Amino acid sequence: MDIDPTKYDPPAGLLDDRVILITGASDGIGKALALACARLGAHVILHGRNTGKLEATYDEIVALESVQRPSIAVLDLATADSGAYLSLAKSVESEFGRLDGLVHNASILGQRLSIEQYDAGEWQQVLHVNLTAAFALTQVLLPPLRSAADPSIIFTSSGVGRVGKAFWGAYAVSKFGIEALSQILANEHEHTDLRVNCINPGPTRTKMRLAAYPAEDRDLLPTPADVLPTYLYLLGPDSRGVTGQSLDA
Ligand SMILES: NC(=O)c1ccc[n+]([C@@H]2O[C@H](COP(=O)([O-])OP(=O)(O)OC[C@H]3O[C@@H](n4cnc5c(N)ncnc54)[C@H](OP(=O)(O)O)[C@@H]3O)[C@@H](O)[C@H]2O)c1
Repeated sequence: MDIDPTKYDPPAGLLDDRVILITGASDGIGKALALACARLGAHVILHGRNTGKLEATYDEIVALESVQRPSIAVLDLATADSGAYLSLAKSVESEFGRLDGLVHNASILGQRLSIEQYDAGEWQQVLHVNLTAAFALTQVLLPPLRSAADPSIIFTSSGVGRVGKAFWGAYAVSKFGIEALSQILANEHEHTDLRVNCINPGPTRTKMRLAAYPAEDRDLLPTPADVLPTYLYLLGPDSRGVTGQSLDA
């Protein structure tokens, strides 16, 4: 890799006509990434669970100059069944015939408690939303990804997805799982055009970070827009051949 992805300066039109689905595009990093991808020419599929918040992202995108009108895909990762995943994949295939980028960004934090105190139901919920849902969505979207000329999948990890730390419970375990899922998928596709990578955005000023560190001075944190260069690098053609990596944003 000759380029430092954290300093990547995306050229205008980098993502022209690429179809990119971003999970959790209603807030935080996912929303900022959706706006940036649209500015760079992509047709963005905005995924989330809250129609009103997705429509707000949609409105901000269509208010930009010369962008493609995005699509909205409402699917609650906590409750969606296999039929809902299949119908999302079918609508991507029938509307676009391919998918150029898939960004697994949606996550929940869960409890910040010791393993001894952690609620078993919440444990399952966090692993389901953060890990199992990413597996299920990837599985149904592999066919349209394979139909793209230069497809890219990005998973979202965390510092606690690489080193276990006290009180990070199911969230940390789910992120270790995400790192594994990304590596397995990259390895399974190493002789294909599909690249699969993981990003740890690092501390970023979002509602999740505020929930994890309520006493912290938010103004000192990077904004979602600050962490986007690595994502944009991995979504565009300059990262062709880069796969199986776990990068910091
Ligand atoms: N912020 C950080 O400091 C930090 C650090 C390391 C890693 N990360 C990772 O970066 C990613 C983005 O985090 P963020 O800080 O931007 O978080 P955020 O602001 O809380 O946004 C999370 C997004 O996920 C969506 N989501 C949550 N549960 C969902 C469900 N059941 N179904 C569908 N969508 C759901 C949220 O939808 P709603 O708008 O409806 O809530 C929201 O769009 C996450 O994977 C997170 O683990 C963040």
